[in-house]
Amino acid sequence: MCGIFGYVGSKNASDLVTKGLAKLEYRGYDSWGVTVAHAARAIVDKQTGKLRGKVASLPGSHVGLGHTRWATHGGVTQANAHPHVDCGERIALVHNGIVANDVELRRELAARGHRFRSETDTELVAHLVEEALAPLPPTPESLLTATLAAFRRLAGMNAIVVLDALTDTLAAAKSGSPLVVGFGEGEHWLASDQAAIVEHTRRIAVLGDGQAVLVTRDSARAVDVATGSPRALDVTEAAWTDAHVGLGAHPDYMTKEMHEQPAVWRRLAADDAPLRELARRIEAATDVVALGCGSGFHAALSAEYLFARAGRRVRAMPASEFSHFARFTGPGTLVLALSQSGETIDVLEAVNAARARDARVAALCNVPGSALTRVADLTVPLGAGPERCVVSTKAFTAKLAALILASGDPDDSKRLVTQAADLAGAFLDGPTRTALQNLAARLVHDEHAYVIGRGASYPLALETALKIKEVSYLHAEGFAGGELKHGVIALVAPGTHCIVIAPEDETKSDVLAAAAQVKARGAVVTAIAAEPHPAFDHLIRVPDLGVASHLLGALPGQVLGYELARARGLDPDMPRNLAKSVTVK
Ligand code: G6P
Repeated sequence: MCGIFGYVGSKNASDLVTKGLAKLEYRGYDSWGVTVAHAARAIVDKQTGKLRGKVASLPGSHVGLGHTRWATHGGVTQANAHPHVDCGERIALVHNGIVANDVELRRELAARGHRFRSETDTELVAHLVEEALAPLPPTPESLLTATLAAFRRLAGMNAIVVLDALTDTLAAAKSGSPLVVGFGEGEHWLASDQAAIVEHTRRIAVLGDGQAVLVTRDSARAVDVATGSPRALDVTEAAWTDAHVGLGAHPDYMTKEMHEQPAVWRRLAADDAPLRELARRIEAATDVVALGCGSGFHAALSAEYLFARAGRRVRAMPASEFSHFARFTGPGTLVLALSQSGETIDVLEAVNAARARDARVAALCNVPGSALTRVADLTVPLGAGPERCVVSTKAFTAKLAALILASGDPDDSKRLVTQAADLAGAFLDGPTRTALQNLAARLVHDEHAYVIGRGASYPLALETALKIKEVSYLHAEGFAGGELKHGVIALVAPGTHCIVIAPEDETKSDVLAAAAQVKARGAVVTAIAAEPHPAFDHLIRVPDLGVASHLLGALPGQVLGYELARARGLDPDMPRNLAKSVTVK
């Protein structure tokens, strides 16, 4: 995965591209690089590590292209960082995806005398463009022709952008991974995400799969990759503004996004018409499969429990496992896809497999215009605004709020979700936050923690453990409370920290029994519960709001993960090895 940002206009391209990349770093941050067109050569500055605070050292130019990388082919080295240039350094190329036939293409190009400077699959595409460009006159059209010729040779799902230093032009083609074109007066942009462009222009067009685009100072023109025939770009106003994208007064994006949650829940409760439509479609379907990845999968699992309470069977599974069950889907099936980005490859593949069997698709998605929203029959926008911290907070609880609203009585669930929004402040800044800071201080030198919940609190236990792991690297394991005594209890020793989610519902007495069992073996028990109990050593108090208690119950894991990361001196926004938008398999 990676972030791509390109510019053609009259401003200083190197500065613009570097700043644009800073807004896309959540997509990968192993290394970064920028190229500009200067004296008919593509000049490149690329470095390993995060971009933060650094500037590219490049000559003045009005055409530039940059990339932030999440390594797939080849280690994290300066040579493997993008952009990659051709033998003559006329063009530079960046890439998102995996070239599935890279071995054959590399062998072929090497036999024809091309020199490779990196281990990446990307570099060979630069040489393919070079070969296709060589016999053509030096015009922007030629760059498009050569880009199409090269791209058609690639197997797999890819997006490439090429800068031609001879014609001051950019060309892009894609079969997967997002690309957005920004339109200005005498300037144009290309980026992986509208969030990086809206500072400059709000007139954008999302490039579809199987499309290519030629971008010059004065125009952006799309064609079909397979045929080369013109394709109209649907230019619309961006859903987000730069104010949504910025950090404001917050120290980091994780803090900003956690604090935005109550407003997101309120908005979903205030305008629940799309959720009522979702509820109708779930009711009408013969079977419902909820799919997602990471936090999206945990939300899917919440859907299974929440709809079960409402008397409706929903099956949840990780989107990456769906292919094993795709043959059970048919015209009556509704696939409920839960994805913040709408770009996660495993979600898109699952949805496409279901569509191929005539299933209907409903999406709970946060990014307007994303690939998922383009294939779904119904999209319920989460309306959470850009989520830039790699770990998901507001997008997860937005999905949870949406599911509570869609599965419950409309009036009751709206009232409870709104009440949860009113009470969230105590978790984010008030006394509950202090209690979570104290818990973080107790856990900071530990290696393991366990989180248990039952029923609808089981997905929350998984999500709580995931938040802790992702952002603080403490090994946390979430599981269903009933499973405790079937193995995991062997790991509980005096001093082991166990977090127990015990809301005032039908799961309470069983979860209390599990808490007593670990306490009897010396565990330190912290409960996320409404009331104290002798089995609890510490209490993170979550008021009883019926089904909306789960919304508040999702906050301690986020805050605890954040506080642990800070206590361990870690960057909460960009955890090790992760990337936000997982567009490769
Ligand atoms: C990555 C992120 C997770 C996210 C998952 C699914 O793994 O690090 O935070 O939950 O992708 O992303 P999606 O955009 O489909 O919700």
